[in-house]
Amino acid sequence: MSSELRTQVAIVGAGPAGLLLGQLLQRAGIDTLLLERRSADYVKGRIRAGVLEPGTVEVLEYADAARRVRAEGLTHDGVEIGSSGRRNRIALKELTGKLVTVYGQTEVTRDLMDARTTSGAPSVYEAEDVSVSDIGDSPRVRFSSNGETREVVCDFVAGCDGFHGVCRRSVPPDFLSISERKYPFGWLGVLADFRPPWAELIYAASDRGFALASMRSETRVRCYIQCSLDDSVEQWPDDRFWEEFGARVGQDIRVRIPNVPSLEKSIAPLRSFVAEPLRFGRLFLAGDAAHIVPPTGAKGLNLAVSDVFYLYEALRTFYKEGTERGIDHYSHRCLRRIWRAERFSWWMTRLLHRFPGDEFDQRMQQTELEYLFESHAAQSSLAENYVGLPL
Ligand code: FAD
Ligand code: PHB
Repeated sequence: MSSELRTQVAIVGAGPAGLLLGQLLQRAGIDTLLLERRSADYVKGRIRAGVLEPGTVEVLEYADAARRVRAEGLTHDGVEIGSSGRRNRIALKELTGKLVTVYGQTEVTRDLMDARTTSGAPSVYEAEDVSVSDIGDSPRVRFSSNGETREVVCDFVAGCDGFHGVCRRSVPPDFLSISERKYPFGWLGVLADFRPPWAELIYAASDRGFALASMRSETRVRCYIQCSLDDSVEQWPDDRFWEEFGARVGQDIRVRIPNVPSLEKSIAPLRSFVAEPLRFGRLFLAGDAAHIVPPTGAKGLNLAVSDVFYLYEALRTFYKEGTERGIDHYSHRCLRRIWRAERFSWWMTRLLHRFPGDEFDQRMQQTELEYLFESHAAQSSLAENYVGLPL
């Protein structure tokens, strides 16, 4: 037996994109229903991104969900790039006037979930078999929960359901153009509780492959190494991970890593992916549902936030001014920023990873790194993109 629900905007997916959109719309007096396939605890436990652009923090502020990030986020005014045993600092603040904030995606998610609970807006976690239909003009979203099938009648569907979600797959394939690049390696990530022996993030290129030294707080580190796509976490016990990480980042760091067990370890493949346009009738795609960047540029979460901010503005214009101008421009507006973040993430990935290639490719990579270290203009370009282009 199916019972019908009614809302203005049905949001599929309670990652950062869906939660933030819900919060912005609720604050503008627009009703939303949020449907998430997983449990709230599962979503909160996923370890992912860690660097927020200043524009992202401003949007969280605007959504009234920035109290904790302002109090607990670590602001960094530079990052280090390592190559051949040397480390060079990119002075983000001097070059751009801006800082980045190190604050985990898990915490952003928690803050947005708390804000939604406070607003009283409805959410359904563990929603099964979510499907979207009639997206051309009068969309419906079906799902089951606690053994009951429900149907949502709405004005719009926001597909914030990530790369593996249903919304993008609900668009007739002829209407979507897909651009994709898969990289021939992955990132093995480790989370561990110790005081980071580095003050700023270190992105290290080495003959053994890439490594990244990051953090979540003054007592928690998040580190990655480039690994083979065939590797499994079982092949990387903690000792082996830290030995390899130290060999890539530098022995000065290695000797300061204590012998503590990791809290989490996972492998993610790297890809670049864009599906365009981001609108089909009354369905909008936002965040990872529409695009993926390799994490080297720290752009995935930030891009999800900028899409959502544009979608919020478009929907607010629709409801408050009765014009479709905003929703008509949504896709075009997002794609300009998406492609720039794609370019930067691809460039950082190519600059810092070990690729199977010939001697010429390797000399080019080395030359590009040397140029970066010696050229103020090259450093400015990296810094401008890393802190994020204006919204
Ligand atoms: P997601 O966070 O993927 O959220 C989508 C939500 O939709 C999920 O909660 C999912 O359960 C839900 N969903 C999916 N299908 C359905 C369905 N059928 N019905 C209902 N709900 C559904 N970025 C970085 O900048 N740095 C990193 O280190 C980094 N690491 C990453 C590691 C992994 C394994 C992944 C997958 C991504 C990583 N990213 C990283 C990218 C960053 O985390 C994402 O860009 C960000 O999560 C995008 O947010 P989103 O809300 O668009 O999508
Ligand atoms: C992280 O802390 O998880 C992180 C930081 C910077 C990146 C990618 C991941 O570029």
